[in-house]
Amino acid sequence: MTNREQWSSNLGFLAAAVGSAVGLGNMWRFSYLTAEKGGAAFVALYLFFTLAIGLPVMLAELTLGRGAKKSPILALTHFGGERWRSLGWLFVLTGFVILSYYSVIAGWTIRYAAEAIFLGVPLNPGSKFSEISQGSDAFIYHVFFMAIVMGIVVRGVSRGIERVSIVAMPLLFLFVCSIAIYAATLEGAGAGYLYYLNADFANAFAIDVVVSAAGQAFFSLSLGMGAIMTFASYLPPKSDLPRETVMIGGLDFGIAFLAGLMVFPIIFALGIQADVGESTLGALFVALPKAFAAMGGAGRVVAIFFFSALVVGALTSAISLLEVVVSAAVDGLNWSRKRSVWVAGTSIAFLGSFAAWNIEVLDLMDQVANNLLLLVGGLALSIFVGWSMRDPVSEVQIGSQISRPAMVVWHQLLRWAVPVVLLFVLWHSVPSTLVNVWNFLSDP
Ligand code: PFF
Repeated sequence: MTNREQWSSNLGFLAAAVGSAVGLGNMWRFSYLTAEKGGAAFVALYLFFTLAIGLPVMLAELTLGRGAKKSPILALTHFGGERWRSLGWLFVLTGFVILSYYSVIAGWTIRYAAEAIFLGVPLNPGSKFSEISQGSDAFIYHVFFMAIVMGIVVRGVSRGIERVSIVAMPLLFLFVCSIAIYAATLEGAGAGYLYYLNADFANAFAIDVVVSAAGQAFFSLSLGMGAIMTFASYLPPKSDLPRETVMIGGLDFGIAFLAGLMVFPIIFALGIQADVGESTLGALFVALPKAFAAMGGAGRVVAIFFFSALVVGALTSAISLLEVVVSAAVDGLNWSRKRSVWVAGTSIAFLGSFAAWNIEVLDLMDQVANNLLLLVGGLALSIFVGWSMRDPVSEVQIGSQISRPAMVVWHQLLRWAVPVVLLFVLWHSVPSTLVNVWNFLSDP
């Protein structure tokens, strides 16, 4: 492939990869899981999984993408032959499913951001949320969001994805930092920090906490479905992959952590912790606006910053999800980028309309993607690089100063630690996920 697109700078790649990683997962999903699973112990486990299994898998994805210079399906066959083609298909399927419901949630955030700007904070967030989260309103915003994502991806890697990410990431950082600083000035914020940072490890070893923390580490780093691999396929041959891994992982965790520093002080300072205690998908969309409304004038500004940060994060992540599917069509079917974006984007928007119409479908899709698809994808990938690929250690070292023994440790982690942890997690998450799917299908 001689005229494959490339990032115009290394910073451009970094912005796009961090843009993929940082998204609704860091703010909405991280906060609601932390609230639901009991605070700091969950955060500690999530950090552990990020380091122990997330970063090794990220480095594996970067290595395959950069080395093959192809979209995931072809990258896997390039390094592993025909037997590994189906794993590439699993990635495309996962991207398809995640984007379809992710875009619905992103649609809610656009709605909240726009209303905060033009109308103010809703006075009755509970009924507001039930009104806009499912049905025709949710559908319209979902389609609107998908149209924006398609409009960016169709412009290509450096002119579309990179340009948007390079502006979006600093902006998001600015929003999140300003809110975290403001939150620190609120009276009663201390109780929020205490809840967020004071680990009660009695909680941490409950199976469902472990399973959610592992799933969240994968989701948040955009792993297990070839998104990072796809972005790496547009890298120049000599980039330093271990360094990129540490930067992407560090910034992703840093922003999730900051999101906690903005959400929990606000929630505790305004005394609405009971609202998030029974955390569900929508809790933050109800509880936080309540807090914003109680803050008076400042609340509106905070609301604008908060929901804009969510929109920006969702956008750069959605771009990477669509790019997985689009690059598969461009490389595999020889379609033009324009045609691929049209076909992929509209089919994803169609699938997402089910999630827009019924929030239970959305919840189910999120469970299937996180507790099943991403983990199976990550497991198969680590087995591939750990056991089947020829000499991944030399491949990963290209362009990097890092010592060979360090990369041998990475290889061993992929061989043993990552598969063992993922198998354990899957063993516990698959039955409950399948039961949930079954229950829904038998009584929708
Ligand atoms: N990492 C994104 C987030 O935290 O919101 C979600 C995501 C994007 C998952 C891209 C998977 C992916 F391939």
